[in-house]
Amino acid sequence: MVEKMIEQTVWRHLQVWWTPMQIERIMGKQGIRGPTYKFLFGNTKEISKKKANSLCSPMDLSHDIFPRIMPHIYSWINTYGNIFLFWNGSRAELVVTQPELVKELFNNNHTYPRTVADDKYFRKLTGDSIVACEGEKWVKRRKVANQAFHSENLKNMTPAMIESVKMMLERWRNHEGRELDVYEEFRQLTAEVISRTVFGSSYEVGEQVLQMLTKLAIIVTRNAYNIRLPSISDLFKNGDEIESDKIEKEIREVILQIIKKREKVVVDEQIFGSDFLGLLWKARHDSSGGNIMSVDQIIDECKIFYGAGQGSTAALLSWTILLLAIHFDWQANARDEVLKVIGQQQPNSDDLPRLRTMNMIIHESLRLYPPVPSSERKAKKGARLGKLILPANIKVFVPILALHRDPKIWGEDAHLFKPERFTEGIVGATKNNLAAFLPFIMGPRTCVGMNFAINETKIALSMILQRYAFTLSPNYIHSPILTMNLRPEHGVQVLLHAL
Ligand code: HEM
Repeated sequence: MVEKMIEQTVWRHLQVWWTPMQIERIMGKQGIRGPTYKFLFGNTKEISKKKANSLCSPMDLSHDIFPRIMPHIYSWINTYGNIFLFWNGSRAELVVTQPELVKELFNNNHTYPRTVADDKYFRKLTGDSIVACEGEKWVKRRKVANQAFHSENLKNMTPAMIESVKMMLERWRNHEGRELDVYEEFRQLTAEVISRTVFGSSYEVGEQVLQMLTKLAIIVTRNAYNIRLPSISDLFKNGDEIESDKIEKEIREVILQIIKKREKVVVDEQIFGSDFLGLLWKARHDSSGGNIMSVDQIIDECKIFYGAGQGSTAALLSWTILLLAIHFDWQANARDEVLKVIGQQQPNSDDLPRLRTMNMIIHESLRLYPPVPSSERKAKKGARLGKLILPANIKVFVPILALHRDPKIWGEDAHLFKPERFTEGIVGATKNNLAAFLPFIMGPRTCVGMNFAINETKIALSMILQRYAFTLSPNYIHSPILTMNLRPEHGVQVLLHAL
C-alpha cells in the first residue's frame, strides 16, 4: 500500500515536470511564448503577488480597472502579445484576446467544452448542474432552462419583478435626502426576484442560500491560484476543504426543503408550476429509464440559478447606478426617456424594448464593468484554433475585460463611459467584431438568463429614475474586486434626492 502510494507520488511529480516541458516546446514551435514554467507551482506565486499588490488599496475613480483586476494578464499581454501561455500550477492556460479566435472558441462547444469539472472548489458551487455538464446531458438541461426563460415566461415574471422593486423603493423612503448603499439594496432585490420568479419561494430562503453561496464563492476565489502538493492533498483536508464541504451540505439541506414543499404540491395536486422549479419537476416526471433527473441534480440546478443569477445582476445594477451618479447628463437622458415611454406608470414588458437610451447605458456599463470578466474552455484532442494546433486538455482563458478595453476596437477612449458608442447597437459599437463585446459570452453556451437580467435591470432602473435623482456620496470608495463576480468591494453609496 505504502509502496504504491510512493510510486504514484513519484510518477505524478515526474508528470508535473515532463508534461509542461513538452507543452512549452509544442507551443513554442508555433510562436507562442509566455512566462516560464516553475516546477509544480507554475506562475501561481507571481500571480498571487501581483494580485495582492494591485488590490492592496482602493483606486482613483477611473474605469481603467483591467490592470487592477487581472494584473498578471495585463502585464503579460504587454510583454508577450495578445496570445500567450501561462502556468496555473502544472496546468497550461493559453490566453486568447483576438475576437476572431474567441469567436471560434465559443462557437465550438464540442471541441472546447467548459472546464468546471477540474476545479474541486468551483465544483462545489456548480455540482452536477447545467454549468458543469457537457454533451447530451447539457443539451437536455439547456432545453429546460431555455423554456424557463422563453419570452412568454419572461413576460409572466414582470409583475413579480415590479413587486420586488416596489418593496425595495418602500425601504428607500427612509433614506430620502440621505446616503444609501445601493449594492446592498440590489443584493437583496436580486435575491428576492430569483426566489419569487424562479422558485416561487420567499426572500428569506433565497437570502439564506445566497449567504452560503457567497461564503463558498470567497473560498473558490481564494483558492483559484493555490497549489497543494498532490501527495499531501490526498491525505489531509485543509481548513477551506472542510469549510466548503460543510457549506455545500447546508445549502443542499435548505434547497431540499424548497423542493420537498413543491414535491408535495406535485404529488397532491398534480400541479408543477410554470417557474423554473416547476419545469425541472416536469422534466423529471416526463423522463424515463436511466435519464431521470435525480433530486440531487435538481438541487444542483437550483443552486446554480441562485448563484449565477443574483450576484451578476446585483453587480450590473450597482455599476450602472455608479456610472449614472457620476454622469449626470446620462442620468437625465435616461430619466427623460423613461418619462416619455412609461410616464409615471409601472413599466410593462412591452415598454422595455423601447428604452433605447437605457439599453445603450446598460451595454456601456457591461463593457466597462462586466460582472463575469473572464471565461475558460478546455481543448479536446486534435483541437485547432486559427492556425494553432493545441495539446489535448490545455485550458483556453478569455479575459473578457481585455477585449472590452482593446483600443483597436473601442478607440483610445476605451476607458471612458460613452454610451453613445452603442447608438448603432453592438454591431456598430464593435465595428462588426461581435466577439469584442462578451458580457454574456456567445455561442451555444451563452448566458441563458441574459434577457431575464436585462429585463430586471431595466425595470429597476426605470422605477428608480421615476422617483429619484442620485449623486455619488463622498464616502464612496472605488475598489472593484473579483469574487466570482466583478463587484464593488465596499458597496456603492449614493445620496438620494426625491423628485
Ligand atoms: C448581468 C447579469 C449576468 C451576466 C453578466 C451573466 C453572464 C454569464 C456568462 C458570461 C456566462 C457564460 C459563462 C461561461 O460559459 O464561461 C453565463 C452563463 C450562465 N448564466 Fe448568466 N449572467 C447573468 C445573469 C444570469 C441570470 C439572471 C441567470 C439565471 C437566473 C443566469 C444563468 C446562467 C446559466 C445557467 C449559465 C450557464 C449556461 C450554460 O452553460 O448553458 N445568468 N452567464
